[in-house]
Amino acid sequence: MSNPSLLILAGDGIGPEVMTQVNRVIDWIGDKRGLAFDVSEDLVGGAAYDKHGTPLHDDTMAKAMEVDAVLLGAVGGPKYDALDFSVKPERGLLRLRKEMDLYANLRPAQCFDALADFSSLKRDVVAGLDIVIVRELTSGIYFGEPRGIIHEGNERVGINTQRYTESEIDRVARSAFELARRRGNKVCSMEKANVMESGILWREVVQKVHDEDYPDVELSHMYADAGAMQLCRWPKQFDVIVTDNLFGDLLSDAAAMLTGSLGMLPSASLGAPMANGRPKALYEPVHGSAPDIAGQGKANPIACILSFAMALRYSFDQGDEAVRIEKAVEKVLADGLRTADLIGEEGVEPVSTEQMGDAILAALD
Ligand code: NAI
Ligand code: MG
Repeated sequence: MSNPSLLILAGDGIGPEVMTQVNRVIDWIGDKRGLAFDVSEDLVGGAAYDKHGTPLHDDTMAKAMEVDAVLLGAVGGPKYDALDFSVKPERGLLRLRKEMDLYANLRPAQCFDALADFSSLKRDVVAGLDIVIVRELTSGIYFGEPRGIIHEGNERVGINTQRYTESEIDRVARSAFELARRRGNKVCSMEKANVMESGILWREVVQKVHDEDYPDVELSHMYADAGAMQLCRWPKQFDVIVTDNLFGDLLSDAAAMLTGSLGMLPSASLGAPMANGRPKALYEPVHGSAPDIAGQGKANPIACILSFAMALRYSFDQGDEAVRIEKAVEKVLADGLRTADLIGEEGVEPVSTEQMGDAILAALD
């Protein structure tokens, strides 16, 4: 059997810098754990625009549709700010998400013990936290029609439409229940069924999917505003949260910040299963291209390395190897290693991107 395939799109700014460290981890897994990947690399975002005049070449898109998983760094930067909307670096990423139909966005909020004091919340509240927010990514109010700014009488009206079909809710609910089964077996679904019809339908469909196919998973429902409060009050009550595109955008950003730095946060975007049973998948750190620190060797590579760990877990059924990487990260943090973004107190000297990579590889050994 051929090796599983991985397309690496490092992108712009710190994207290539953090991806260099991920490549070392991929090589390590191949050499030391006998888990080799067929890795190909290509351009996305500003880098693709510079070469091809488009933020994602058709050939790259075609490749992304064929591989088992795509790993992306980051796109964008001030150099491209003046470009027309249609060729902005972000469009490359949006095209990938759209054409791969990646409807389930997984955002873990996990607190590494060594960073518990770095959180803005009390240590007790966040220490040991390990939850995942599943955000519906391809529908809802960001896509619903009608939309636009229209004229009504002598003023303008801004319009967006929240719209969800049963099948869109059904498939993302299944992603959440499947995920819960490999974790704490608990799903909390969040909407605003008290004031939105789309929320009423959301609640009904999630309950139906549960009753028919996942009765073994513990399911609860919460209004999204109450959910936001509970996330800040006692986040450890949750395991998997499933919610729509808009609420998920806000709740996942809030949950992420419970645990500290942008430089630590991985993500996965999953779509329908392919012929080989693996879901279409794109893994990427939550952060952007960080132009303020690009080219200085300061970027924290952990978010991108943990994104690769998610790929091992969700695309390649290598949960043990994913844990191995997470434990290595845990160890270097416990040893006191910090990139500049993780330094809260004075007197701690930051390590470089490469030194963090060195330490993680040493911990893996
Ligand atoms: P950003 O995430 O790039 O940076 C925000 C702040 O966090 C900066 O101070 C940055 O130095 C810091 N930071 C981010 N990642 C870090 C890391 N790994 N290690 C250490 N520090 C880190 O967001 P910003 O500044 O709003 O956007 C910069 C560019 O990135 C823009 O062009 C934006 O459009 C793009 N962007 C791309 C995303 C993507 O590729 N998925 C997501 C967000 C923004
Ligand atoms: Mg957001």
